[in-house]
Amino acid sequence: MKIFIDSANLTDLEEGLKRGFAQGITTNPSLLAKEPKSSFEGHVNKILDLVKKYQPGIHLSIEVFSRNPEEIFKQAQEFVKLFNYPQLSIKVQVGWNELETIKKLSTAGISVNCTACMDITQALMAAHAGARYVSLFWGRIRDGKTDEKALIEKEDYLKRKVLDDKDFDPAFAVQSVRQFIDQNKLNSEIIVGSIRSVVDIRDAGLAGAHIVTVPPKFFPDMMKHFKTDQVVSQFLSDFEGWLS
Ligand code: E4P
Repeated sequence: MKIFIDSANLTDLEEGLKRGFAQGITTNPSLLAKEPKSSFEGHVNKILDLVKKYQPGIHLSIEVFSRNPEEIFKQAQEFVKLFNYPQLSIKVQVGWNELETIKKLSTAGISVNCTACMDITQALMAAHAGARYVSLFWGRIRDGKTDEKALIEKEDYLKRKVLDDKDFDPAFAVQSVRQFIDQNKLNSEIIVGSIRSVVDIRDAGLAGAHIVTVPPKFFPDMMKHFKTDQVVSQFLSDFEGWLS
């Protein structure tokens, strides 16, 4: 399982990249909107400067900001030209109308990260259409079970058997998509995003995610253990006792 950094914050990215464990970065429009106002091009170039300084050649996903398939196609092509970074992947949201765009972009040799996948069939169809990556949103898939804002839509989906209860289990979604990708020998990797805890990261990896993209706030905790602190203190105090 590879670890990506899910952030557009330059300080957090630098803290992660200089430690050498990250094999990629994912951003989205909401993450960019948390940063001080600047141009999209300028901010992505600053991210690329950090990548080139610390870990040249790692993956970078940036997302289109349109819901119109023709506009998405145009934006994706513009981004590829503008940033001229071979490991750039363009995040395109999953959807019936977007599928044709995913296919067109992939056929044109552009790496597509099909994002906002919340169930197995979405990710599977995107992978078949040529998406190089399918992003499954772990936390949001789980939230779907109790989402008060979409009660009517959810009831409708359940009634029509578009989904059933199993579809709100993110581990089941990731395991199933991984099984289909492997069975069909699809050239697509699963990125699990929407991580809500360190335990989610472990569970996503065990469920079969090729990549987990992690918000930087979890990195220090991923490297901590109270028993590590305890034993390191013990070793030092034993040694100091022996020296004196
Ligand atoms: C990553 O690709 C996603 O955009 C991101 O992880 C979504 O996370 P959220 O559900 O916390 O917004």
